[in-house]
Amino acid sequence: MELQEVLRSTGAVREFTPEAVPDETVWRLLDTARFAPSGGNRQGWRVVVVKDPAIRARLRELYLPAWYEYLAISSAGLVPWAPVTDRAAEAEAARGAPQVAVAAGRGEGGFAENLDKVPVLLVLLADFRALAAVDRDFERYTLVGGASIYPFAWSLLLAAREEGLGGVLTTMAVRAEPEVKELLGAGPELAVAGVMALGRPTRRATRLKRGAVESFATVDRADGPAFTATGP
Ligand SMILES: Cc1cc2nc3c(=O)[nH]c(=O)nc-3n(C[C@H](O)[C@H](O)[C@H](O)COP(=O)(O)O)c2cc1C
Repeated sequence: MELQEVLRSTGAVREFTPEAVPDETVWRLLDTARFAPSGGNRQGWRVVVVKDPAIRARLRELYLPAWYEYLAISSAGLVPWAPVTDRAAEAEAARGAPQVAVAAGRGEGGFAENLDKVPVLLVLLADFRALAAVDRDFERYTLVGGASIYPFAWSLLLAAREEGLGGVLTTMAVRAEPEVKELLGAGPELAVAGVMALGRPTRRATRLKRGAVESFATVDRADGPAFTATGP
């Protein structure tokens, strides 16, 4: 596949065929993703390949409360856990999470409720000793450390695509980070960056919804005119 086509069409995949993915394939994905960039080339990513059904089930349990909270906050028209948001409105909306959970419990469940059954389940960890987090000392929410980990996650998803696989990076379980770390025996220097599901997709998105360049790129200043292909 053409790289550009891959970049424009690799959407989140949350439904998988029951086909198992051999360890050899997972190893190959990791072997390709390790060439991702990171600040100072410190490669602070760590990966736990979760096979044990009991650990998988516990991860699903830890994922779900945040997922229901996410749905409750979203349905109030807010961006869940945005660093800049109306915290009071968010807290109020989050109180609806138990009802969302009850409603979800009535159905057969979707991706979240079946997280333990995905063909491949990876927990991505970040070694805080290896992150060049240049905004570490700021008062504001810090952002830069993740930039040394998430390109690796994206490379994993792109490598999976090459193998006819698909998947999604998830972060809901990070809300329960202490429990996830305890579950995995992760030391104090490690943070949970995400949980990735991979497998053979039952279907692929045909068209991804993304904003146009003009909606996020400007000229010279953040409040400058929209950057267009043809200029002023
Ligand atoms: C940092 C990050 C966190 C995400 N967390 C979750 C998650 O917890 N659960 C989930 O189902 N999808 C998660 N996603 C997937 C996004 O929902 C998905 O990339 C986005 O909706 C675009 O979907 P599309 O590529 O299918 O259009 C996450 C994606 C990123 C990049």
